[in-house]
Amino acid sequence: MAEFIDVTDTDSIPKGSGRAFPVDGRMIAIFNDEGVFVAIDDFCPHMGASLADGWLEKGCVACPWHAWRFQLSDGAWLDNPKIKAATFAVRVVGNRIEVNPTPIT
Ligand code: FES
Repeated sequence: MAEFIDVTDTDSIPKGSGRAFPVDGRMIAIFNDEGVFVAIDDFCPHMGASLADGWLEKGCVACPWHAWRFQLSDGAWLDNPKIKAATFAVRVVGNRIEVNPTPIT
């Protein structure tokens, strides 16, 4: 099982926004949802848009291309939960954000 990997500092992702980072060979989108950091695969399973460029709203991110909405808690597409984007464990150590690149969903 992979270990947590240091990714960025907490100040680099303002509340209500997301940024994508290369982590262990894949792009992972990290969002600051009211001070809670969450991570989801940056690659939208519809057509591959960057979910980090989407809109954060009520625990979900809406894809910037066609507005598919994914729950940040488990990556499920709200219109059909059988389709998911992978999610990842996040922890904050001091002012650093660490992500475990092994998907949890
Ligand atoms: S590429 Fe994300 S909804 Fe179409």
